[in-house]
Amino acid sequence: MAMFLPDEFVERVRSESDLVSVVSTYVQLKRKGNRYWGCCPFHQEDTPSFSVKPDDGFFYCFGCHTGGNIFKFISLIENISYYEAILFQAERLNIPLPEREKTPAEIARDKKRDELRELHEMAGKFFHNCLTMTNYGKAGLAYFHKRGIGDDIIEEFQLGFAPDAWNKLTDAFAKRGVNTELLLESGLVVKRQQGNGEYDRFRNRVMIPIMDERGRICGFGGRIIAEGNPKYLNSPETMLFNKRKLLFGLDKAHRHISQAGFALVVEGYMDVISVFAAGIKNVVASLGTAFTVDQCKKLLRYAPAIYFCYDSDNAGQEAIARALGIAGETNAQIKVVQLPDGKDPDEFIQKYGAEEFRQVVSKAISVVDFRLKHIMAHSDVSGLEGRLRALTEMLPVLGDIKNSAERSAYVSKVAKLLSVSENDILVELTKKGHWHGTRQTDTRNVENVVRQVDDAGRRAGRVVIRMVWEEPAVLDHFISMVPLESVPDPVHRQILSGLNEKFRAGEPVKDIMSLSDLGDEATAELSRSLVEDLGEEDISLLYEACVRQLRRSFLASQYEVHSMNAERLHQQGDARYMDELAASQKIKQEMDELQSVD
Ligand code: UTP
Ligand code: MN
Repeated sequence: MAMFLPDEFVERVRSESDLVSVVSTYVQLKRKGNRYWGCCPFHQEDTPSFSVKPDDGFFYCFGCHTGGNIFKFISLIENISYYEAILFQAERLNIPLPEREKTPAEIARDKKRDELRELHEMAGKFFHNCLTMTNYGKAGLAYFHKRGIGDDIIEEFQLGFAPDAWNKLTDAFAKRGVNTELLLESGLVVKRQQGNGEYDRFRNRVMIPIMDERGRICGFGGRIIAEGNPKYLNSPETMLFNKRKLLFGLDKAHRHISQAGFALVVEGYMDVISVFAAGIKNVVASLGTAFTVDQCKKLLRYAPAIYFCYDSDNAGQEAIARALGIAGETNAQIKVVQLPDGKDPDEFIQKYGAEEFRQVVSKAISVVDFRLKHIMAHSDVSGLEGRLRALTEMLPVLGDIKNSAERSAYVSKVAKLLSVSENDILVELTKKGHWHGTRQTDTRNVENVVRQVDDAGRRAGRVVIRMVWEEPAVLDHFISMVPLESVPDPVHRQILSGLNEKFRAGEPVKDIMSLSDLGDEATAELSRSLVEDLGEEDISLLYEACVRQLRRSFLASQYEVHSMNAERLHQQGDARYMDELAASQKIKQEMDELQSVD
């Protein structure tokens, strides 16, 4: 739950943060003058257009026009909210949260959580010791070894064994004085239906501890080693164990996910263990439930891409379709890894080896290809009717493709697959309105491009913003030359009005840095204004030239207004047209004078 953060706290976090060192943990930066440059982490590029200006505490990318202060950067790169970014950075700097009295309920909850954590650590050790150091564990060890899991992996994943008995853990933990209520709450023990007492939930199962991304045990999955059901028994949902949020293996994988640039998502615990043991360490699994948006976002904190590698059976393919739907709601770059002949990743590696698995992963296909392939697989395209049916199913797939170059490529691919003409596909696509959503995106792109065309007028606006930032008192001068409502660029108008409000209220204009009031676009443009290289020029000289330029366009618009009024009044036989004419002439004169200055 978001809590109110006092300004002093936010300010303290900001002032103790070093923007360059924070950015450097994600982006390699090179210093040039009072600015740093690197390749933008928010879009693909080979030449650096991402710039950081430490003095002002802003970053800006001249390629994708993303910009803002340190919290904006953290929120974007970690995929968290602005608010969470402040807390994230505070934690990184060890700045304590602002003091607030905890309610008794909160204190009790914190205590409970700590106790549960401790209990799970104890249980993890208990199962692990059973496996590695007792006679009971022999069956478990044999099971793991039979599946090709060696002692190093048993250590790495802290795998364990729950003995084939009713109360080994119950008794052992009672002896150590563990509270029964807590044991019941953790789900490690279960109350007897009849009579008094409790018994162990996990019996005769190999135990897989499930950890959060910081490596703290939150729950267990236990696989049966004999015949029986269920195959896997999991901890119940508790304060710690949220199946929709946790990802098995993430504690070990996240470093590797960042390095590889993608996360490999598989279905099962054993798949993670096998794939990891085979040296592909950027692997995680959801916990026997469907992949969720929360899990997706968690992965995106480490890399922009997610590869799904689910079982090649029907259930797996359906699960993948659902996962693609979920991941499609985010901005994840998604690919699908396809395993041949009914295998899961673990079985595939046991049969063909690690190198072959790497190969398969490297051949991951796009979501569009996956969907097209899926349709082809259940279609009979030998006859015309079947081809048309397949085409009908493929149209929405094509319509979903946002990028028009990519769409054309797929249109021609589908044309070849189904032996129909590209033109017919295009006609159908338009007719069915399949790319309605796409068209909207296209216009937005066009608007973006137009906005990004950096005309002189917009540069002048940024210089003025920079000057006001450094010397707010010039606002009086600026407004006397160009009324704020006549600033041509709407985003600049918004920024300058914001700065002006702060100035009039007697507050430091830099308080607008809280930035939460400014939209993303204005935030980025403000950052750009502060980060942009103005050359060697003296900022005040530059400012004057820019104000003249903005005044000229202001005058030009005023001139238009008065001339049109004059013409209209003249036609109506209204004598006041003379005043309008005089006004327009006066403006014209000032325009000419200004022209001669530059
Ligand atoms: P699978 O049935 O595909 O099992 O379940 P698997 O991972 O291949 O297991 P092995 O190789 O036979 O040992 C995939 C995942 O679904 C969850 C578990 O998380 C499992 O890893 N699951 C499955 C359960 O939670 N309970 C079950 O009874 C079965
Ligand atoms: Mn399996």
